[in-house]
Amino acid sequence: MSLSKLAMKIAESPTLALNSKARSLREQGKPVIHLGAGEPKTKVPASAILSAAAKLTTGEIRYTPTKGIPTLINAIIKYTEKNYKKTVAPANVVVSAGAKQAIYNLMMTLLNPGEEVIMLAPYWVSYPEIIKMLYGVPVTVMPPQGSFEPTIEGIKAKVSEKTKAIIVNSPNNPSGVMYSAKLIQEIVEYCEDKGIYVIMDDIYHKLIFDNKTWPSPFAYANDDFESSYLIVVNGVSKLYAMTGFRIGWTIASTKVCKVMINVAAQNTSCPSPVQQEAAVGALNGNQSNVENLRLTLENNRNIMINELKTIPNLKITVPDGTFYCLPDFSAYNKNSNELSQFLLEKALVVSVPGGEFGLEGHLRLSYCGSVKDIMDGVARIKWALDPDSPKEIYIGDRKIIRDWK
Ligand SMILES: Cc1ncc(COP(=O)(O)O)c(C=O)c1O
Repeated sequence: MSLSKLAMKIAESPTLALNSKARSLREQGKPVIHLGAGEPKTKVPASAILSAAAKLTTGEIRYTPTKGIPTLINAIIKYTEKNYKKTVAPANVVVSAGAKQAIYNLMMTLLNPGEEVIMLAPYWVSYPEIIKMLYGVPVTVMPPQGSFEPTIEGIKAKVSEKTKAIIVNSPNNPSGVMYSAKLIQEIVEYCEDKGIYVIMDDIYHKLIFDNKTWPSPFAYANDDFESSYLIVVNGVSKLYAMTGFRIGWTIASTKVCKVMINVAAQNTSCPSPVQQEAAVGALNGNQSNVENLRLTLENNRNIMINELKTIPNLKITVPDGTFYCLPDFSAYNKNSNELSQFLLEKALVVSVPGGEFGLEGHLRLSYCGSVKDIMDGVARIKWALDPDSPKEIYIGDRKIIRDWK
């Protein structure tokens, strides 16, 4: 039975695979702690629920314009004015079924076969797969040793005549690091000058800690947006804890948006009107949910980092935002996949191997769960790795004996 060679090369989503392994261990009654999650556990804002419910009760749930309903487009324009200090026109906005679909449709809009897209390691796992699905070539820029922020020189060294775009995610999944305003400025100005599309994946841009401020990339782009190579992707998934609603959007020049709408028209027709109304409710409603989530995550970050510091020989970069951190575990095992499997089997803790993000020797740990899970999860990791830990611990009501070095 023959299948597409290209499709067969697409890697299984590591996070979804880990979720299903954790679920099956839980079903066997094992008390698994999930430090691999990629979504906040807080409730969806009431304004989003009410808005979606009002739409549902009309009983008229039909196709919408492919680019999104006007009220959502307007809400996104207002959001962009407030948070990015940039006024864009309705023709510069396209709504999609999540930021992931926005990135997929964008890559389809931008790439000819064989053209290159630069990704900055550590990068989000889906970028290389999406690029390859569209016959593009992912090109990785590694950060300097011991850092999670690339340099402009490192980026320039990877630019070739085939470079079509660069994708930037700051604050970053998986490291939690926010790139400096200087680097964002250098990237945007360089790309505008060279005619390289610069895609800003801003899905975590308000989840920032320590009173730091997030730099709007528009500050460094061409004032005339129609001739700018800057493209912004964002959505409601992370900031509003609305991952299941699948609403994201793209802000780009009219030329890019027009082609992107044709791409979307032939694959999804439009995002669900009920979910679009929910996003209108979230964006136009009370914003205290976002701030409360940010405060909770900052507290969780502090707890996780303090706990991790008790594990000897770990190298930790304190995250500036998001709900992830990416400690360097290479003193224990340079193979992150092996280490992640070991921790799942021995300590029943889910982590995501750094190799999936282009950075071996690290593990991504999430702090979007409960404080108890963070404390117990890190304590179990410490117990499994540190040879000076007690020989046995209780996980649930099971006594586990440490019979490895
Ligand atoms: C960096 C990054 N971009 C995009 C997405 C996708 O977001 P959405 O749920 O809106 O598709 C994620 C989700 O994990 C992400 O981490």
